[in-house]
Amino acid sequence: MEKYVILGGAKLEGEVEISGAKNSAVALIVAALLVEDVCIIENVPAVSDTYVLIDIINQLGGKAEFVDKGVLRIDGSSLNCCEAPYEMVSKIRASSYLMGALLGRFKQARVAMPGGCDFGVRPIDLHLKGFAALGAECNVEYGLVDIKAEALRGAGIYMDQVSVGATINIMLASAMAEGQTVIENAAKEPHIVDVANFLNSMGANIKGAGTDVIKIKGVEKLHGGMYTVIPDQIEAGTFMIAAAATQGDVLIKNIIPKHLDSISAKLEEMGVEIEEYDDSIRVRGTSELRKANVKTMPHPGFPTDLQPQMLTLLTAAKGTSIVTENVWDNRFKYVEELRRMGATVSVDGRTAVVEGGGRLSGSPVSSTDLRAGAALVIAGLMADGVTEIYNLKYIDRGYESFEQKLRALGAQITRRKDGEKSYAVTIA
Ligand code: UD1
Repeated sequence: MEKYVILGGAKLEGEVEISGAKNSAVALIVAALLVEDVCIIENVPAVSDTYVLIDIINQLGGKAEFVDKGVLRIDGSSLNCCEAPYEMVSKIRASSYLMGALLGRFKQARVAMPGGCDFGVRPIDLHLKGFAALGAECNVEYGLVDIKAEALRGAGIYMDQVSVGATINIMLASAMAEGQTVIENAAKEPHIVDVANFLNSMGANIKGAGTDVIKIKGVEKLHGGMYTVIPDQIEAGTFMIAAAATQGDVLIKNIIPKHLDSISAKLEEMGVEIEEYDDSIRVRGTSELRKANVKTMPHPGFPTDLQPQMLTLLTAAKGTSIVTENVWDNRFKYVEELRRMGATVSVDGRTAVVEGGGRLSGSPVSSTDLRAGAALVIAGLMADGVTEIYNLKYIDRGYESFEQKLRALGAQITRRKDGEKSYAVTIA
């Protein structure tokens, strides 16, 4: 088993280049299966979620491979299977997009209930309601979601709750349906816009992505092409928070500052200095962090995927901060790990109360999911002494070259096999 060993206390300083957005890439990779043609996707992050999808495509009879750094070639022309069993899809939430892509292309899909990070119930009722509205019959049996349609016909779909996954799945399934589909109360995350732009570049007719109402006029066929993934909003936010947490001074490059508005605003409220440029942001930390209340919301609100990192930063802000998780019902599991490091945080349902201002101390801890893992890395950077972080498989799902990027900024972080000589010993 591998672990990170971090010696805390170093200020992060310098420049970091943000990779392509993981949550966008995983949707685009699956969307490429809608075409019987070749798609080249650039700026794809080399993270384990990407490799899991490459395997899935190859097992389904398609061809997917990296042909250069960040350049993924996907040839869906030979795809010959509409069934994605449990072993294939259970590792990754984005495999749920196979439902929309296979249904859109073949009018049928049999996909095991998707997996992914565990932060409470992760239903797919909205996805299935959307497919049903388009004329598909959906049944869940023997662990598989069985979806088929004689024909897909455009429909008006109102989403009871804003869902990123369901919005993307409905776009995929309806891109080649007959007539027009209108999604109301659609998700507005940057990767929704990226998926719509990608599909449009392949010949789709989608308008309104990024607003509450998305209109999809079905087209007969989509074609292959080239597309570049947007920068990762969550990776960028993670580095912004890490810079603030270490009282550092970091220029975060290759980003879209607009996507980071909610994070910049919250950090400024806490006393962190933010300077925005065209495609970069400079973050300068302070030793006098102010407390703040944070509520996660669908975009453009504060992203739930930065909640653990932000809560970790708040442990250094004097006073009582309140963090409310409005998207997931159980996303504070990692707090137990922060408590091992001396954080004073109490959790009641979807609310966490952080008594900040004390110093964290290094300790062995375990990632409980992808973003919680990133939060623990930030905690390790802030803490006195040595922190060991286990369960790196979660962090590897979504952060490209995480420790290399942090090391280049001055962090003392190494990846070790458990049992290898500890960093603390090396330092001493
Ligand atoms: C995506 C992101 C994930 C992020 C989340 C919210 C990817 C690969 N993952 O997940 O990192 O945390 O958005 O920004 O992009 N819901 C239902 N019924 C459904 C679907 C969802 O009730 O059919 C509820 C969920 O329980 C949750 C909320 O809607 O409370 C948001 O879920 P959703 O936006 O669908 O999350 P994902 O697409 O799975």
